[in-house]
Amino acid sequence: MSYISAFFYDRLLAPAEEACLKKWRHDLLRDISGDVFEIGAGTGSNLEFYPDTLRSLVLSEPDVHMRRQLEKKITSSKYNASVTSCTAENIEAEDESCDFVVTSLVCCSVGHLESVLLEVRRVLKPRGKLVFLEHVAAPQGTKRRRWQNLINPFWRKLAGNCHLNRETESAILNNGFEILEIKRESMRKAMPLVRPTIRGTAIKC
Ligand SMILES: C[S@@+](CC[C@H](N)C(=O)[O-])C[C@H]1O[C@@H](n2cnc3c(N)ncnc32)[C@H](O)[C@@H]1O
Repeated sequence: MSYISAFFYDRLLAPAEEACLKKWRHDLLRDISGDVFEIGAGTGSNLEFYPDTLRSLVLSEPDVHMRRQLEKKITSSKYNASVTSCTAENIEAEDESCDFVVTSLVCCSVGHLESVLLEVRRVLKPRGKLVFLEHVAAPQGTKRRRWQNLINPFWRKLAGNCHLNRETESAILNNGFEILEIKRESMRKAMPLVRPTIRGTAIKC
């Protein structure tokens, strides 16, 4: 991402944050515990929603401009979190060391989602959980899906490899997770092609 995109990221997302994302982040994160690793933490939009009882919190963000915004938020927060620059394809954590891995609005942007999910499995403890909040492909055959497919090649170039038509739910199911809870809802106040979302929890199996 460019310096400009990172600088304006929070402002661009603000209408959707107020309309729904903040509540969704809060509901997803309020009950997590233990050792937590967030991938693609961006500017740290999840930070204020983590319980302050976590044993450890590591936030990874490979983009230098996003990471600077993240580091500023951490300095002014109550959390004793650490920041790392690793990608989701090479998570800097020991095998079976995390109780939870958190991903929000990241699976759309990674290079190869299946490899990332395998890496998430590697670092999760047995029965550890993936917490996800992702914008996804609209159902096959819908007008929105046709537009997502059409615009996707241009959008990826403009928006840091963000895919409009990722089938993230089936990728989670096909890569060693059982979904415990999932909600499918429209991201209000967001651009129409990124409105379909899923959020929930999946357990390593
Ligand atoms: C749309 S932002 C989401 C930021 C934040 N998670 C949120 O909920 O607002 C996507 C983030 O994923 C990061 N990202 C892109 N590719 C990645 C990868 N391969 N591994 C880890 N993070 C990645 C980007 O740098 C960016 O900060």
